[in-house]
Amino acid sequence: MPSNMNIAFIGSESYPFVKTGGLGDVMYALPRALSRDGCTVRVLMPLYNCIPQKFKDQMTYRGSFMMDQCMDGRAFYVGIMESELDGVIYDFIDNREFFDWGNPYTGLWEDIPKYCFFSKAALAALNFLGWVPDVVHCHDWQAALVPVYLRTRFAGTPVGAARSILTIHNLRFQGICSIQHLKYWSGLPDYLFDYPVFKQNEDEANMFKGGLAYADRVTTVSETYAQEIQTSFYGEGLAGHLYYHRAKLSGIVNGIDVEQWDSAADKLLAAPYDASNVLQAKRENKRALQEQLGLEVDEDKFVIGLISRLTDQKGLDLVNAVFTELLDDDTQVAILGTGDPRYEGAFRYYESENKGRVCAYISYNEALAHRIYAGADALLVPSLFEPCGLTQLIAMRYGTVPIVRETGGLKDTVLPYNEYTDEGNGFTFDRYEADLLADAVARAKALYLKDRDRWNEMVLRDMEKDVSWAVSANRYLDLYRELKDME
Ligand code: ADP
Ligand code: GLC
Repeated sequence: MPSNMNIAFIGSESYPFVKTGGLGDVMYALPRALSRDGCTVRVLMPLYNCIPQKFKDQMTYRGSFMMDQCMDGRAFYVGIMESELDGVIYDFIDNREFFDWGNPYTGLWEDIPKYCFFSKAALAALNFLGWVPDVVHCHDWQAALVPVYLRTRFAGTPVGAARSILTIHNLRFQGICSIQHLKYWSGLPDYLFDYPVFKQNEDEANMFKGGLAYADRVTTVSETYAQEIQTSFYGEGLAGHLYYHRAKLSGIVNGIDVEQWDSAADKLLAAPYDASNVLQAKRENKRALQEQLGLEVDEDKFVIGLISRLTDQKGLDLVNAVFTELLDDDTQVAILGTGDPRYEGAFRYYESENKGRVCAYISYNEALAHRIYAGADALLVPSLFEPCGLTQLIAMRYGTVPIVRETGGLKDTVLPYNEYTDEGNGFTFDRYEADLLADAVARAKALYLKDRDRWNEMVLRDMEKDVSWAVSANRYLDLYRELKDME
């Protein structure tokens, strides 16, 4: 059903302007999908200095104003720079004091003022532009003050008529600081700093907590994660709060933009391919990858890829515990990631000890990510927790078999291989235990080495699986409609 709704996306990053992880992908792909479905979508994000100049050159100035921000009435400049990309309008909030540094994030102490300002400025910009959305769709803690501002400082202004959704991409990060710090920078009234809203404990306030309380709807990026976060293990201290608000909480699994991730049109690959020539082309891509990474060039090796922020969320402690066990003469490992120095160091060490069999490429590199998705046989995602996860979706789309732990979105998107019925998309394990990870890798390797026909059938099944936004964008549309119809 075509839709004529107006939706404002508010969040801290969006591909291709700035991306540090999956949030950036979603802030790009979902607005595009909604716009194709007939919605008018504006994305509001900060004008970071780290946005490449070529994008800044395409922006036009839409206006500026001064805005009161802090408890003492301290005011800041708000500029609006605009550009359009594939039918989606991007409004960048400009203020050099806040956004001139960082990549784009700095430390929590500086990021809290930055995103207090951003959340308020985004709503003020909508009023300034005279564009009142039906729904403001806010993302993660950086935009969590938006639902609160909407019902307080902006109630009675034009944008105050909008409904709000707050999507949790990752509950690990919440925007927690002293009550004083948040009170000062948000300029929000005292009564909000009590337990039902921002108060976290005697001394601290929590931005995400307040946003979750005030949003009309809360979503997260998979059904399983929506359940998990109501338990203490996954709830990051907010399980009780989320359980209390469960009537407005739901899970909608992410998709990927299948034009952005299209192995047939991917100019970064040695040999672009679709399902009709995947088996041959993957061999060529594997050889090109091995050459680029200094791995022994041999298309019969079982190549395992790992593309990830290097944090404990991603299950790297398990990988570390069994790494040498995973390696044998038939196996190579290609790691691409940056993050926690202890994992960077460990992977560098494994590379130095296993030259030609292991490559640890410690950096953020879009092009290499594409080449690993295409050239590896399997992609490892053994996460401790995973709200959705996009790398397993991209892998499947590229005919690379995921090996995942059954948590969050990994559980919802990767059907475990069943050797009796020949169904499934990948190899999975349930408990967070290194031996189970090693066992899942061993099962994958055994199928690859000993029963290539069945392995190849899985590659084809994975390529044909629908990982696009089509279904999930419709679920968001239903939610927007439901909110729009609310009295
Ligand atoms: P998260 O958002 O938790 O980091 P996701 O799986 O949702 O995890 O998304 C990660 C995104 O970032 C994917 O698009 C992945 O390809 C990309 N990515 C992660 N690390 C790197 C890296 N080092 N270089 C290039 N792309 C990366
Ligand atoms: C977060 C999560 C990841 C999810 C992404 C996009 O970064 O860690 O699982 O895919 O957001 O929603």
